[in-house]
Amino acid sequence: MQYGYFDDDAREYVITHPDTPYPWINYLGSEDFYGLFSNTSGGYCFYRDARLLRLIRYRYNNVPTDSGGRYFYIRDGGDIWTPSWMPMKSALDRYECRHGMGYSRISSARNGLAFSQTSFVPLKDNCEIHKIVLANESKADKDLDVFSFIEFCLWNANDDMTNFQRNFSIGEVEVEAGGARIYHKTEYRERRNHYALWAVNVPVAGFDTDRQTFLGLYNGFDHPETVFAGKANNSVASGWAPIGSHHIKAHLAPGESKALVFVLGYSENPDDQKWASPGVINKTPANALLEKYGSPEAADKALAALKDYWDLLLGRFSVEAEDKRMARMAGVWNQYQCMVTFNMSRSASYFESGIGRGMGFRDSNQDLLGFVHLVPERARARILDIAATQFPDGSAYHQYQPLTKRGNNEVGSGFNDDPLWLICGVAAYIKETGDFGILDVKVPFDNKEELADSLFVHLKRSFDYTVTHTGPHGLPLIGRADWNDCLNLNCFSKTPGESFQTTANFESGVAESVLIAAIFVFNGPDYIEICRRTGREEEAAYAAKAVASMTETIKTHGWDGNWFLRAYDAYGHKIGSHECEDGQIYIESNGFAVMAEIGLDDGRALKALDSVKDRLDTKYGIVLQQPAYKEYHLELGEVSSYPPGYKENAGIFCHNNPWVTIAETKLGRGTRAFETYTKICPAYREDDSDLRRLEPYVYAQMVAGKDAPRFGEAKNSWLTGTAAWTFVSISQYILGVRPVFDGLLIDPCIPSSMKGFSVIRHFQNAVYRIAVDNSAGVEKGVKSVTLDGKPLSGTVLPALSDGRTHEVNVVMG
Ligand code: GLC
Ligand code: GLC
Repeated sequence: MQYGYFDDDAREYVITHPDTPYPWINYLGSEDFYGLFSNTSGGYCFYRDARLLRLIRYRYNNVPTDSGGRYFYIRDGGDIWTPSWMPMKSALDRYECRHGMGYSRISSARNGLAFSQTSFVPLKDNCEIHKIVLANESKADKDLDVFSFIEFCLWNANDDMTNFQRNFSIGEVEVEAGGARIYHKTEYRERRNHYALWAVNVPVAGFDTDRQTFLGLYNGFDHPETVFAGKANNSVASGWAPIGSHHIKAHLAPGESKALVFVLGYSENPDDQKWASPGVINKTPANALLEKYGSPEAADKALAALKDYWDLLLGRFSVEAEDKRMARMAGVWNQYQCMVTFNMSRSASYFESGIGRGMGFRDSNQDLLGFVHLVPERARARILDIAATQFPDGSAYHQYQPLTKRGNNEVGSGFNDDPLWLICGVAAYIKETGDFGILDVKVPFDNKEELADSLFVHLKRSFDYTVTHTGPHGLPLIGRADWNDCLNLNCFSKTPGESFQTTANFESGVAESVLIAAIFVFNGPDYIEICRRTGREEEAAYAAKAVASMTETIKTHGWDGNWFLRAYDAYGHKIGSHECEDGQIYIESNGFAVMAEIGLDDGRALKALDSVKDRLDTKYGIVLQQPAYKEYHLELGEVSSYPPGYKENAGIFCHNNPWVTIAETKLGRGTRAFETYTKICPAYREDDSDLRRLEPYVYAQMVAGKDAPRFGEAKNSWLTGTAAWTFVSISQYILGVRPVFDGLLIDPCIPSSMKGFSVIRHFQNAVYRIAVDNSAGVEKGVKSVTLDGKPLSGTVLPALSDGRTHEVNVVMG
């Protein structure tokens, strides 16, 4: 069944049932301050780092699921309920939750009282705003008690879950304005210069800041003693668990409504201005924030500014087509998810705790691909941050911490695909912006200034790292793992709990990856072109030779007869071959090799994709390999640790499906490419939500494969490389509007049944309104292009950079 619908005009997904098959969330915030916000107001928020600077507590793996967030309790006469449904699971006469671009609105009603909560993070300010409107729709007067509730976190989310012997004694708050303003200052007396605040813009009848007093020790969020008693206790937390709760009284005549503005914010003071007086925090910045958002009108204005911001961003690429699901995903939701993955990497979602992982070197480079057209300046800054975590030999820290921008020593390096993604990210950035100047920027290696060299040198070290780290067949050594984090060919782990990614019990120097070879060949032409266009002819010639030679190596040692092999293990045995018992064919090397155009000339590409279709395709997408591993293989690692059909063991790992989509366009098979695209696209499975379970507006990392009991069920939505790659596949290869070094290439590859579409694309300070006519009913091929009415020779629109709008008419045939 469906749990909601897309409101395309508003760019909102409207959830109509609170009990979705899993919490369906949204992200608030766009630069430094973020909130995770579920359709029942669950979640949490943080400033820049979800581990170190988390404002409110969130318990992962909780029962019931998704308890904890920003809650409002209403006491309407004797009737007590929570308008966001959770935590009381109140029966509601009306409910809807609209997730929009950077904001959400929950609206509900019960017994003639309507409630709405609009939640967002305003541009440039470090807070969440929750604007509440209460409206009396009944014929009688209402005397209401409204209680707010949030639970502060002790800042370091990891300590918060582990170090209770300390935590239970350090909690401190301050309360001002009669309780309307609550400040959380745990650890502020020592090394912190920041605090959190939870405030409301109206006078309150009382407040609470001690959890036990508010809830009762043995009560859950669904039965707060204080709300049932109808009166706040004015408790001031001292240790234990500080919370923020306001008690507001409101009288509403029939037809009357009242708006309240709550601010949940983060404030920072310079070290020498921490205190207003001994023991009392300097609240200047917090109070400025509260003044700014002190009225419903101010909140509305900030929300309007946020909407304008998203109009501008999404105006950079939009689609009109008969297929509404494709158009809304490509034009809105996929790009929105790309922004979120760019911001979060793989750190904080309902599947990532915000504690474990930093920014991934490979992940962030790939995230750029779907984001660079939105805010190129931020992509540029990100590239420089990532490159600074590269080692002088070209290898890279696998992850880095967003707050310090330092490489993460616990994970270290040795993922041998990592370096190549930097070339991929930088090439995408230059094609989008034409900014070759970035190559001259001096960037540290290993974050050490004394090791700084130009970004170009970083790219060269990336390229050379692959050239110089090859194994017995001349294919790249895999190291700890390549893109597939779970193919751990040097790990040989027998110890429970040991990390498959960071343990290497067997330094084989033998295990090789055909995927890395294909990634190398894929990025080769861009690297060569970058060299040529910056006058490095000799380097270009050297690189061309290396790429040609790797291509031959793949054809000789990376081909299994009907598809590309995946790897060689530490004994030199094949992985992804018909000779294997399980894991005979893998998706990644096949998709990538054809994307890299290997075997387009000799039939291998065609054979490989047909084999993928025959052996790996299912109705919900293409599984990662077949047959699934039935047992654990010491020499393969984590990939064989999952039960068949889940994750990298033959799950539909959505991230690599668009590689096949793109590969299909290389063969000109538009119908197939589109079919591959739609199978994993969430909007096409909206009415199948009971099985799929996750949000119909965002991609998930994995859908259970055909070997799994829960075939078709999705896990891990939002933070996945699927976002960037599906956007690349639909925008650049299916619709075929693709930035290249000379401009914008027009090269659609669509189903023959698609009679046309149009795209508006902002590119290097000009706007192109591109109308594609496929009345000929072909899958690929452009017969003519006109630019502002004049025939264009070729299919590359030049970067006109004149700030004007240009009409482009494309006829396929
Ligand atoms: C996860 C990781 C990504 C990896 C993929 C496949 O999505 O974030 O880096 O490539 O899994 O293992
Ligand atoms: C686990 C996951 C994989 C992820 C990796 C990151 O192995 O299965 O998807 O990339 O952790 O460390």
